[in-house]
Amino acid sequence: MADSSHTPELPEDLTPEVSEPLSPELSETLTGNSSGEHEPPETVPQAVPEPIIVFSHVYISFDGRPVLEDVSFSVNRGQTLCILGRSGVGKSVSLRLLMGFLHADSGSICVEGREITGLNEDGMQEIRKRITMVFQNGALFDSLSVRENIAFPLRERGGLAEDQVQQIVNQLIGLVGAEDVADNLPASLSTGRRRAVAIARALAAQPEVVLYDEPTTMVDPIIARRLGGIIQRLKRQLGFTSIVVTHDMRFAERLADLVLFLDQGRARFFGPLSEFVASADPHIQQFLTLDAYRLPLR
Ligand SMILES: Nc1ncnc2c1ncn2[C@@H]1O[C@H](COP(=O)(O)OP(=O)(O)OP(=O)(O)O)[C@@H](O)[C@H]1O
Ligand SMILES: [Mg+2]
Repeated sequence: MADSSHTPELPEDLTPEVSEPLSPELSETLTGNSSGEHEPPETVPQAVPEPIIVFSHVYISFDGRPVLEDVSFSVNRGQTLCILGRSGVGKSVSLRLLMGFLHADSGSICVEGREITGLNEDGMQEIRKRITMVFQNGALFDSLSVRENIAFPLRERGGLAEDQVQQIVNQLIGLVGAEDVADNLPASLSTGRRRAVAIARALAAQPEVVLYDEPTTMVDPIIARRLGGIIQRLKRQLGFTSIVVTHDMRFAERLADLVLFLDQGRARFFGPLSEFVASADPHIQQFLTLDAYRLPLR
């Protein structure tokens, strides 16, 4: 991917490299679909309403202070859910519950029809092969190069010859536009670049669902757009399911099929993006209005 720092304005559409189809080899690797020659059509994700994640009446509190109260939502395979809400409402907690890093006090959380609330660490390890999280700081291995970071999940999974590993790594590096930093250590990368590499590493684990916690925080609008383009491409071309926690309404408007708006521990809104932005609820209106007043970054 070319350096975007010279791009004078944000284009309305995806950058051309982002809208190019993925190579069949990479599609096959990421989706595990070896049937073939064809790319999944762009509309497959929405066509099959199959819940992949279901939260039902989830409660969690810390030191007696409720954080999530009776929160329910579901995400179908191939959909993108954006979780919105002010700081401290439990957005990251929701992702951590899904990863099994936290445990609900009550309620049910199902992944592909399997209840995960009572699972032990071994059971959760299985779930974490299906769901992977891109952390805010990237959580890359500091002592490994970008290339080695991305290769790590592939090697851990096993069954691939070294030249296959390198081929897939090169494709993932191309996907996120990190060719020029492939042999660098993570510490030398900007925040946006680190996050793009973290996405590539998450994909190398061949997940069904990718969770993103604030992918656009602390990156400039062009990088934010580029990260959004990567997430959108993964959805359109590969049918990935995503849950994206964000404060960034522009980003959410571009990506979301569904919105979960958390407010004072409750799911104040859960439904299609179009209904969220048209909502007459004063709390939602206030959130949308405040977001529109953000100061420009340059
Ligand atoms: N492990 C924990 N132990 C105690 N309290 C916690 C823990 N994890 C989260 N909390 C509390 O739960 C609340 C919700 O936290 P969470 O990180 O989900 O907020 P958030 O919506 O992601 O906010 P932000 O937008 O600032 O990231 C906070 O008050 C936080 O302090
Ligand atoms: Mg958070």
